Amino acid sequence: MARIEFKNIEKRFDDVVVIPGMDLVINDGEFVALLGPSGCGKSTSLFMLAGIYLPSGGDLLFDEHRVNEVEARDRNVGIVFQSYALYPHMTVRDNIRFPLRFKKVPDAEAKRRVREAAELVQVAELMNRRPSQLSGGQQQRVALARALVKDPQLLLLDEPLSNLDATLRLTMRTEIKALQERLGVTTILVTHDQLEATTMADRIICMREGEIEQIGSPDDLYLRPETLFVAGFIGSPPINILHGQVDSEKLRVGEAVAPLVGVGNGPFSIGLRPEHLEFGDSGVPARVIQTEPMGREILYVAESPLGLIRVLESGSQVNHRIGEETRIAFDPSNTLLFEEATGRRLDGAHFHLNTTARAA
Ligand SMILES: Nc1ncnc2c1ncn2[C@@H]1O[C@H](COP(=O)(O)OP(=O)(O)OP(=O)(O)O)[C@@H](O)[C@H]1O
Ligand SMILES: [Mg+2]
Repeated sequence: MARIEFKNIEKRFDDVVVIPGMDLVINDGEFVALLGPSGCGKSTSLFMLAGIYLPSGGDLLFDEHRVNEVEARDRNVGIVFQSYALYPHMTVRDNIRFPLRFKKVPDAEAKRRVREAAELVQVAELMNRRPSQLSGGQQQRVALARALVKDPQLLLLDEPLSNLDATLRLTMRTEIKALQERLGVTTILVTHDQLEATTMADRIICMREGEIEQIGSPDDLYLRPETLFVAGFIGSPPINILHGQVDSEKLRVGEAVAPLVGVGNGPFSIGLRPEHLEFGDSGVPARVIQTEPMGREILYVAESPLGLIRVLESGSQVNHRIGEETRIAFDPSNTLLFEEATGRRLDGAHFHLNTTARAA
């Protein structure tokens, strides 16, 4: 398998800089997820790894060897494209077998590997069909089989499960993860689905406008986001961001004032995760204005002197009606503080509501 390294990798399309300079190491056998908004450069990064795009600058290393100019076919990389890109004139069988054409694999072994890959993703009964005769999800699974058939040293998955129904997605998630562990293949998964990223990957790489914003475990990104951007991107429903102002060691948010020592004056953001908030008899006064049942959880939106706040309660029963006057409590240790000028989180700083908040 392979250890992958980006050394100051740059990618430009004419004069448009998409990746200004990326440094990244992915360890041998590691499973990482690439998360980030549309257009941030996830597919571009994968295409450079696959040998489809040539980096504009820097060094791309596979096991310490520079591969910038190595042809795609010589890299032993399996890729599932965002758009599957199956060959329309070929059967499923021939599509899956296609990557073996450059390898000197005996016919009997090739047949066995094609069958195994097809069975793995449950398309063995569709071998004689053409892509146009398959559903989107079936095409996606054929694309996965095609990426796996040659025992790649690096597996690149660009939104591989996005067209599957919820049940199949869950099954495939578990199967890809188990398969990856069994094969030990270094894997990079691009996904918009955070749950997919957090359940499958060892580490998550959060990207923004061609740059790495933060790399860490799912817990790092969720509990210790380094920036306001990561805090807002990770978590569903999204974190509450309240805007405040620090003046002479006091943080003012709406009508609430809380002490905040050791920082300069200026605008601050306070992050409160909806699942860390609780309705009760103490805390910020609030009035429920919206309820949204989401299966096993209920999302509430409440008006408060601090602004609109989303609260997530587990359980399927709606316990708070629209118009209810209540209070919202939170554990200060669960609050995140960000300096707005830099977007960076202040390590160790929390928001203590000094019970000075008044009713609206
Ligand atoms: N061949 C190209 N020529 C010019 N610009 C390109 C080319 N390919 C990608 N880009 C630009 O590079 C940026 C990154 O694109 P990329 O496809 O890597 O995004 P992405 O993170 O995969 O987004 P998505 O989640 O929508 O798939 C975009 O602004 C895109 O328009
Ligand atoms: Mg993409």
